[in-house]
Amino acid sequence: MQPFLIAPSILSADFARLGDDVDQVLAAGADVVHFDVMDNHYVPNLTFGPMLCQALRDYGIQAPIDVHLMVEPVDALVPQFAEAGASIISFHPEASRHVDRTLQLIKQHGCEAGVVLNPATPLSVLDYLMDKVDLILLMSVNPGFGGQSFIPATLQKLKQVRQLIDQSGRPIRLEVDGGVKTDNIAEIAAAGADMFVAGSAIFNSPSYRDTIDAMRAELAK
Ligand code: DX5
Ligand code: ZN
Repeated sequence: MQPFLIAPSILSADFARLGDDVDQVLAAGADVVHFDVMDNHYVPNLTFGPMLCQALRDYGIQAPIDVHLMVEPVDALVPQFAEAGASIISFHPEASRHVDRTLQLIKQHGCEAGVVLNPATPLSVLDYLMDKVDLILLMSVNPGFGGQSFIPATLQKLKQVRQLIDQSGRPIRLEVDGGVKTDNIAEIAAAGADMFVAGSAIFNSPSYRDTIDAMRAELAK
């Protein structure tokens, strides 16, 4: 596995010129496009759906697209996102009535499957999932909005999930989402994360390249 992946969240990109903005952030060194889907039901905000994912593919975006579903229910969107070019599809287990079935559905459609744990979601939801997930995403803010502050208790949680992953012996990615900045990414990595979502820190910075380079320099420490 590539050691560290930086995944800018397009929630903070310029929607009026999204294709170009995504191109720019990838040219600046990003690894993965993080695609936040909000439904004004599971979370109190509304963003975009499979058509926009397809539009990015049609525009020529080739990087992996990491779809973070903040929607309830989940299953109907899985085939639609797979067909629209998603690479990874993650969902919040409490938003799916049959979590195991949703994971199978994602895999059957040829995507990698992830579960997302909110700040107050206990790790016990992972008990029967460690042999089935490709990715575990820990929310370090409450989902729904970009630009919030990192919740420090996430560090302890990351350490515990890192242990579970190591015990499983499987190549499960440990992704963290919310409030990731250049000045905290090193301690987040030290706690066990290997995939970093960053929205406002990258898209609101004057130079995507400088910010991503600075993050990588922190990760190399
Ligand atoms: C929040 C989203 C995040 C968000 C991160 O619900 O899942 O991906 O865009 O934004 P920042 O990096 O600004 O906290
Ligand atoms: Zn997200």
